[in-house]
Amino acid sequence: MRIRKNAVITAVGGYVPDTVLSNHDLEKMVDTNNEWIVARTGIKERRIVNDPGVATSDLAVRALKRLMSDAGVTPHEIDCVIVSTSTPDYVMVSTGSIVCEKAGLTKAWGIDTNAACSGFLYALTLGASMIESGRCKKVVVIGADKNSSIVNYSDRNTCILFGDGAGAVMLEQTEEPVGLMDSFFRTDGSGKENLIVTAGGSRFPASQQTLDDQLHYVRQDGRVVFKAAIQGMTDTCNEVLQANDLLSSQINYLIPHQANLRIIQSVGDYLGLSGDQVKINIDRYGNTTSATIPLVMWDYKDDFKYGDKIILTAFGAGFSWGATYLKWGRLRKAAQE
Ligand code: ACO
Repeated sequence: MRIRKNAVITAVGGYVPDTVLSNHDLEKMVDTNNEWIVARTGIKERRIVNDPGVATSDLAVRALKRLMSDAGVTPHEIDCVIVSTSTPDYVMVSTGSIVCEKAGLTKAWGIDTNAACSGFLYALTLGASMIESGRCKKVVVIGADKNSSIVNYSDRNTCILFGDGAGAVMLEQTEEPVGLMDSFFRTDGSGKENLIVTAGGSRFPASQQTLDDQLHYVRQDGRVVFKAAIQGMTDTCNEVLQANDLLSSQINYLIPHQANLRIIQSVGDYLGLSGDQVKINIDRYGNTTSATIPLVMWDYKDDFKYGDKIILTAFGAGFSWGATYLKWGRLRKAAQE
């Protein structure tokens, strides 16, 4: 009998900047108020980079270094780093390449992927494929975004939502019945009308006109995104459950992308999950795009037990969306000094 070789998460790391941007701070910047933000989004505060010298790779490196020190993994053990980000350090030169260099990963290769808020889930499945095939032994998947670099802090429709941060997981092979079991992903490019950073790429390279038109900021139709997110996340959660003969009552936890507490609660309610099964940290970090799911794992890793059945789900620009079925394994622990 062929033994299925799964990719399992064996280490987790996370990092958010020290600077807190609270709802009360935002009240001084745009026409909004704390009550509205908490009631409509569940966000109380978010962390942002306040040092212009800090870019996405710096957030990613800090999450990666925490992962390595907690797990007792040395830089040269890692084969590959996949950085999911919508805010790379540069248009050309991958953030993954910079992360490998800054973290001293001399034997690894690094690349970037971009599927906005769904990006971490997509990158996790790509990383798992590298492990399942036997091509790599240790793959680190990082979700990292410095959203403050694309947010217009005079637009109340968007500036209340986003924060900066990074989360990282390491994948390794196992013959035990745990790890990434399945994923269900979708994209619909027509969604670009409703959520986009228009300029800075090859369609609209940076120019005086794109600056004047403020096309380098994230722009969205929040209501359209809100409805599509609930529908897309719920549908793909159901699809991944059905494909794996699972009832939602058999699920231990839901780790949703943290975009809006009302979106999260709607998806949890549709799946019939109780409040403590749905993991949330949006109140403290806001929407950190690619970093939300690994930051939730980082915050709640002590709650998860071997064999727990966890559904991860996300929705983001593209549109892109999906769900992943994960069985929690064991995390490595560094030897005590
Ligand atoms: N403060 C106070 N009032 C506000 C603010 C604000 N920050 N923003 C909008 N309003 C006003 C609107 O102008 C509107 O006023 P009006 O009725 O006089 O026209 C009223 O509040 C209601 O506006 P809505 O847009 O209907 O508010 P809604 O409840 O939909 O909340 C929000 C807006 C929070 C943006 C919500 O639609 C949302 O979260 N959408 C998802 C967007 C998202 O998460 N994008 C991130 C990337 S994609 C992803 O991660 C899934």
